[in-house]
Amino acid sequence: MAQYKKGSMSWVLRYLIPVKGSMLILLVLLLTTTLFQLISPQIVQRFIDAAFAKGPMSSLIGLAGVYLVIAVCNQLITVALSYLGNDVAWRATNQLRADLLKHCLRLDMRFHNLKTPGEMIERIDGDVTNMSNFFAMFLVQIVGSFVLLAGILAIMFVHNSSIAIVMTLFTCVSIGVMIGIRDLGVTASQAERQASASLYGLIEERIAGIEDVQTGGSVPYVMNRFHRAMRAVFQRGRKAWMLRVVPWNATVILYTMAVTVVLLLGVHLYLTGQATLGTLFLFFQYTQMLNDPIEQLGNQMQEFQKAKSGMRRCRELLGLGSEIQEGTAETLPDGALSVEFEEVNFSYNQEERVLHDINFTLNPGERLGIVGRTGSGKSSISRLLLRLYNMDNGVIRVGGVDIRQLKLAALYRRVGMVTQDVQLFDGTLRDNLTLFDSSLTDEQILETTAQLGLRPWVDAQPQGLQTHLSAGGTSLSAGEAQLFALTRVFLTRPSLVILDEPSSRLDPATEAALQTAVDHLLEHCTGIVIAHRLSTLEKVDKIMVLGRGRILEFGGREALAEDQSSHFAELLRTDRQEELA
Ligand SMILES: Nc1ncnc2c1ncn2[C@@H]1O[C@H](COP(=O)(O)OP(=O)(O)OP(=O)(O)O)[C@@H](O)[C@H]1O
Ligand SMILES: [Mg+2]
Repeated sequence: MAQYKKGSMSWVLRYLIPVKGSMLILLVLLLTTTLFQLISPQIVQRFIDAAFAKGPMSSLIGLAGVYLVIAVCNQLITVALSYLGNDVAWRATNQLRADLLKHCLRLDMRFHNLKTPGEMIERIDGDVTNMSNFFAMFLVQIVGSFVLLAGILAIMFVHNSSIAIVMTLFTCVSIGVMIGIRDLGVTASQAERQASASLYGLIEERIAGIEDVQTGGSVPYVMNRFHRAMRAVFQRGRKAWMLRVVPWNATVILYTMAVTVVLLLGVHLYLTGQATLGTLFLFFQYTQMLNDPIEQLGNQMQEFQKAKSGMRRCRELLGLGSEIQEGTAETLPDGALSVEFEEVNFSYNQEERVLHDINFTLNPGERLGIVGRTGSGKSSISRLLLRLYNMDNGVIRVGGVDIRQLKLAALYRRVGMVTQDVQLFDGTLRDNLTLFDSSLTDEQILETTAQLGLRPWVDAQPQGLQTHLSAGGTSLSAGEAQLFALTRVFLTRPSLVILDEPSSRLDPATEAALQTAVDHLLEHCTGIVIAHRLSTLEKVDKIMVLGRGRILEFGGREALAEDQSSHFAELLRTDRQEELA
């Protein structure tokens, strides 16, 4: 979207063009009701005058009939208007929501690391909701309000110019006042939105950490934070509301004055015989009608302010590009893939380097075990390999191809990763295992689960593969989650697998089951196992010991284990002592 010029609104048109037909119908309907609204008082005027002059019954009934038909039609059109208005608003803004989400899904991890889920919800839904009324009704209502105002004033000028002048003055002053103080509540409203975003952020964060909150006894602390956040929302909300109602109150006062003047003038005209009772009613009715469109214009102006801030934020988001640029190469060599890191340096933020001069080569089919203290950069290596971040410099090749030259889809088709935490999606067990790939048969899935040791768990589920799983992952134990993730990757038949083990210890039976699963998975592909348990590394070919982002040691597993002065031998000794203890 970056091609849209700064300050231009042309990108909004993109969402309005598909609904232009509906908007045209909206406008026509609105003009029709405006016309009806303008006609009604004239009918009442004739009715009153005819009744006062003791006119024929038939003409009175005729006038009442016409009035009734117009009133009913008006109501029907009002219903149609609100239906169409909502339809247009939802259709136009849903497209925008979808575009925003799609765009965000493609943005790099550096962007996502800085955003909380609460903020993303606000940006993809909250800001767009602020624009929905603008999309549907803004133009239509502005046009409608102006036509109604012009119609009323024109009719009044035909009947009585002095009253018409009072009304015109009132209209101009009201609109002027509204434009003059329209921005009064904007800053306060923004502060209010910020406070409510913080409140949602707090609730989301605390619910996400519910286990820690409950077991750590921090409920009183959370409640205290919550009360403070609520107080901020309340105080800012009250201020914003007070400021928002000022323009409205100002027009109410002006309006009361205008009605009083028109009534005084009208009564004077009636008493001096210059106007009939019906005309007096007409004046009064039109003065009353004046208030609606003016209020409408005021509302639309507020909506426009809200929409403007929403639009600015949306465009900002759409203008952000991902730092990850895809390449064009579509294919990687068949079979297990080699991996090559050449002089790779990396930092999450520009300040602190996380990986220094990483150089290593892994031949097709080889298995590498990476060990190192927590925070030494093991997971970061896997994230670079999957292009979740750009490295600062250096080259990574998979199957001999620089990963920057590859299409992301081509890379992900062949490379699988099991991360430290497993994400479940709202859907059936089958969908969760296949990640919504319907080309796999139930037999294939069940066979794989049997191979990897997950079958007893699947069979224990009430409806087997069709069992519904809830999002998050709370329905799986840590061991089951790992088996689950391994099965998921196995089903994609990858040529390179990266396993990032969870750091928590599992019971020996689960460990054994996991080990069998890992062995199966790595049978036909190249594997990188980031291990916290040295037992996982019994079958790997090579070992890398990482320390503070540097390779401390890299070599064949056997050789390193035998060399008593190596870091790896030292690790093995400590591990054995721990087991004995
Ligand atoms: N998203 C991030 N933004 C900034 N720094 C990060 C980010 N993720 C990790 N780091 C930092 O990078 C360093 C390496 O982290 P990494 O996750 O690669 O460690 P690890 O070896 O996988 O640790 P563990 O064994 O605990 O999983 C750590 O110092 C960590 O604080
Ligand atoms: Mg890690």
